[in-house]
Amino acid sequence: MELLVTEGLTKRFGGLVAVNEVNLRIKENEALGIIGPNGSGKTTLFNLLSGFFAPTKGRVVFRGKDVTRLSPEERVKMGMVRTFQLVSVFNSLKVWESLVPCIVWNSDIYHSLWKFMTTAVEEVRDNSIEALKLVGLKDYADSMTAELSYGDKRLLEIAFALAFQPKLLLLDEPFSGLSDVEIGKVLALLRSLKGKTTIGIIEHKISMIVDFVDRLCVMNEGRIICEGKPQEVLADPLVNECYWGKEEVVEEAPSSSAL
Ligand SMILES: Nc1ncnc2c1ncn2[C@@H]1O[C@H](COP(=O)(O)OP(=O)(O)O)[C@@H](O)[C@H]1O
Ligand SMILES: [Mg+2]
Repeated sequence: MELLVTEGLTKRFGGLVAVNEVNLRIKENEALGIIGPNGSGKTTLFNLLSGFFAPTKGRVVFRGKDVTRLSPEERVKMGMVRTFQLVSVFNSLKVWESLVPCIVWNSDIYHSLWKFMTTAVEEVRDNSIEALKLVGLKDYADSMTAELSYGDKRLLEIAFALAFQPKLLLLDEPFSGLSDVEIGKVLALLRSLKGKTTIGIIEHKISMIVDFVDRLCVMNEGRIICEGKPQEVLADPLVNECYWGKEEVVEEAPSSSAL
């Protein structure tokens, strides 16, 4: 069953068409990779899906409902949660404290003044530590967020997203800026979610996700130019052309060595 469908989704910035007539389908519980050179429209597409941008044209249907005009918060309530290309965490809080807004917002504490007044801090802290356990950060619960490594901040960001119990988790370049060891940790976490949560993952470096995703979509100049099984997509001459055509991604271009 399709969890998310877009129809003719288009976003213009002045004369530039950043996302151009995109018809995307994400099936329930699949892991879909979205790749493409820099500036090909991947992040803009996620901004349209998650409600951070209104489309110039087209629509977004999530869980059978037209959500094109819904706010990001309303989409989160429906189970669509995204992370950002640049790590965004609360450096001045302890690790467990930084999860509190997500825990509170996602529980009945947020909706009931009585519950809010009577809920013990310990209960919120316990829930927060449970969420940290999921991403392997339990031991850092009382550390300052600022002291975490960049890779652990990524894991914390994913913990924020998971605290909302997403049906669809959208990850924008979750490996960017991470060391190989840190990438391994994030990938292990994503593998543990695979098949239970629907995942849309943007990645610039194809080799990072080729073994993880069920399906790949390739964007170039705002359009999906190719989609299908990862190995088939990587063998497509169009995909090679769009990567090799851009000097800055030559090293990351798909090639037989990436397979
Ligand atoms: N808020 C914005 N205002 C104007 N142009 C933008 C904005 N966001 C993205 N763009 C442009 O849209 C195009 C696609 O950008 P983006 O979606 O960030 O690409 P990618 O994530 O694939 O690198 C780029 O040309 C970029 O400069
Ligand atoms: Mg981007």
